[in-house]
Amino acid sequence: MAMLFTNIHQLVGTHASNAVLRATQLSHLPIIENAFLLAEDGKIKAFGPMDAIGELATNHSFQQVDCTGKLLLPAWVDSHTHLVFAGSRENEMVDKINGATYAEIAAKGGGILSSASRLQQTSEDDLFAMALARLQSVIKMGTGAIEIKSGYGLTVDAELKMLRVVKRLKQVSPIPVKASFLGAHALPTEYQQSRGAYIQLIIEKMLPAIAAEQLADYIDVFCEQGFFTVDECRAVIEAGKAIGLLPKIHANQLHVSGGVELGVSTNAISVDHLEAMDEAAIHALAGSPTIGTMLPTAAFFLRMQYPPARQMINAGCALSLASDYNPGSSPSGNMNFVVALSCIQMKMTPAEAINAATINAANALQLENEVGSIAVGKKANLLLTQKMNSINYLPYAFGENLIEQVFVNGEAV
Ligand code: NIG
Ligand code: FE
Repeated sequence: MAMLFTNIHQLVGTHASNAVLRATQLSHLPIIENAFLLAEDGKIKAFGPMDAIGELATNHSFQQVDCTGKLLLPAWVDSHTHLVFAGSRENEMVDKINGATYAEIAAKGGGILSSASRLQQTSEDDLFAMALARLQSVIKMGTGAIEIKSGYGLTVDAELKMLRVVKRLKQVSPIPVKASFLGAHALPTEYQQSRGAYIQLIIEKMLPAIAAEQLADYIDVFCEQGFFTVDECRAVIEAGKAIGLLPKIHANQLHVSGGVELGVSTNAISVDHLEAMDEAAIHALAGSPTIGTMLPTAAFFLRMQYPPARQMINAGCALSLASDYNPGSSPSGNMNFVVALSCIQMKMTPAEAINAATINAANALQLENEVGSIAVGKKANLLLTQKMNSINYLPYAFGENLIEQVFVNGEAV
């Protein structure tokens, strides 16, 4: 049934263009005060100021939603998650509280490798059921499009199993889902003495099987000291590109790794994390179309420095925000908290953070024509807030559930 939202205190994100925003453009968040919006057949059909609502107001076939005092926004776009996983790792959190570092935990066979061994022993159906529950949960919190990675398989069978789970999620999900293949996430223990053999396994066995079943949209790698080198990552990225996967990579999380420059030089759609940036990395990113995706809940959870958002905005980088939802570094897929942290800890303005988590994130998933702003013809994936004066209240009152209702394809979730 068509739905007519009326008396919207502020209709937020009515961008005239779907282009990615950078530098001072990022603070431009168009808002219509006292607005209406019509959603029909799952799409945004019309919107504007209330005094232009005309005869729509008296059409009784529409279900009316009175939005007095409330804001209506485009749903969040979460362009970086690992939400297919087999089990939680809260004990590692306690180890860290007791002094262990992320690298020490990884070196002991914890971290990504422990998630991989659990996932290898879990059936595709069980993984699917767990991942679907997480997907439904983040949709209820306001996520209206999402990317999901493999990378907890690390064998041919288990990586394919993860990507088949993502493919099944795509088939049942009410929101758009994109899949990234992250075979180069961590080096399995049995390859410690033969790193090249694992890279070959990715290139010669995993990628052809993924191509045959059309299981991925993007190629991802973890370019980081103790994980994969720039040269290893480049080899995997080039092989992924050869089967039509665009790069979307983990770069500069723990160290200045060269990952950003690698992403830029391979025309990555995005380079993600960016906690450890130097001038050269910022300059390379700013001068490229590659989007920098910041994952502040990972820095928060790991007690690490946050990405230098202000420096990157001032330099002219195109930036987006995502949750990194995963069991090791960000066991939350709550984009509301991502936006709040970005304002509170990275000094992004609410307008900048909302743009980064909607229109720019949609660009990071090549979904900018479908989601990420209020525009006629886009999916009616929307967030209706509680009563509040302005968008500033959203990051300010962090931790509270300020989203009263989420709409996906024009229907209340
Ligand atoms: O994006 N950095 C690499 N991968 C994940 C963490 C994975 C894990 O610890 O399980 C991330 O933060
Ligand atoms: Fe990640």
